[in-house]
Amino acid sequence: MPTPTIQPFLWGTATASYQIEGAVSEDGRAPSIWDTFSHTPQKVERSETGDIACDHYHRHAEDIALMRDLGVQAYRFSISWSRILPEGRGNANARGLAFYDRLVDDLLAAGITPFATLFHWDLPQALQDRGGFTNRDIAGWFSDYAVQTTQRLGDRVEHWIMLNEPSVFAFLGHLIGVHAPGLTDLQAFFATTHHLNLAQGTALQALRSNNASWKLGTTLNVHRGVSADGAKASAVMAERHNDLWNGCFLGPLLSGAYPSQIFPQLEPYVQSGDLKSIRQPVDFLGINHYFRAYIQAKPDALIGYEHAAPPSHLPRTSFNWEIDPSEFRDVLLELHETYHCPPIYITENGAYFDDQLSADGKVHDANRVAFLEGYIKAMQEARERGVDIRGYFVWSLMDNFEWASGYRPTFGLVKIDFNTQKRIPKDSFFWYRDHIQQKV
Ligand code: FCB
Repeated sequence: MPTPTIQPFLWGTATASYQIEGAVSEDGRAPSIWDTFSHTPQKVERSETGDIACDHYHRHAEDIALMRDLGVQAYRFSISWSRILPEGRGNANARGLAFYDRLVDDLLAAGITPFATLFHWDLPQALQDRGGFTNRDIAGWFSDYAVQTTQRLGDRVEHWIMLNEPSVFAFLGHLIGVHAPGLTDLQAFFATTHHLNLAQGTALQALRSNNASWKLGTTLNVHRGVSADGAKASAVMAERHNDLWNGCFLGPLLSGAYPSQIFPQLEPYVQSGDLKSIRQPVDFLGINHYFRAYIQAKPDALIGYEHAAPPSHLPRTSFNWEIDPSEFRDVLLELHETYHCPPIYITENGAYFDDQLSADGKVHDANRVAFLEGYIKAMQEARERGVDIRGYFVWSLMDNFEWASGYRPTFGLVKIDFNTQKRIPKDSFFWYRDHIQQKV
């Protein structure tokens, strides 16, 4: 009887460029839409910006040393498009590439496998000025950027993630306007949804033809929407949300079609051949999961509904996100049953809890330890039931700029004192280290 091959499993941690790097005007970087957004009054809590963030641009060696202590085998980071191509297009900025060159070399020297995300929401402002993702030309712009970046780093980086959570970028950035570029425009939302897929498909084809040995994938935020109030109208809207949030990205990639209920609204943007370009083979799928979405019908909202606070009695994180590891397991099982999925990496999972620095100088974040324990166990149950999961990345290595909420939400395994930039590993850091070494 053939013995089943045991697939290696990678334990990792994740970050994103604008949330940690700082150094926003250094070495030729030009503004991204998140620089513009965060510098617009009232858009981010306390008007905080990513200007300095974790100063990772200057402290990456220290951060890699922390990861070495943590014992992670992989690190997911994202590349700032506007460091590589300050105008979004044209010739690459050598100094921008040099930063990621050093980062990758140092990771490899520490024995950590890099997973690079090409787009984690920080679109060059110069491209937004041309319509950003509402402009179909974004497919070519993104693909050129992807080619230039992988040409330089692809001799050492094998795993490439095209997009981070296109549903969040489309929905929060173009429909409800709470993220950059801050639009509240139904047409912009549908155009962006399609063009994200098209950009991804175009880049996947270009990279695949440049190097067949790269492992190419993308990262989707997957959650299930359920009615918040038991009303029929909310149940209908929950279905609509599932189509918009999950189906509009999983569908065209894995089965070649948009959800039929949504297609009429996307159709004006879809040209012949697009669905074929989007349905590209991927070597892996990145899945980010945080919570179940409670959906409430709201006829006067642009999309006809809104998110409601969880009505359940389950515990919650400090973001008011429901804690329910069994839902995570069930999301993974449903994904596995619904689609013919490639191998999966959990590219983000984690929690914001209000951390306290104790008198002993430590952060005793028992709630985060319990959260990670529960969610990792749920993931293992999904694996035992046949879901092919190859790795798990905690969001996040360290506290960072949490988009419209600024620095208040702390998701890190490492606390950052933003006045001094001191890094303080929390109890969850040591728990995860022991977990990786199979001591707990
Ligand atoms: C995800 C984002 C990530 C971080 C976490 C908390 O949606 O991809 O950048 O903000 O949420």
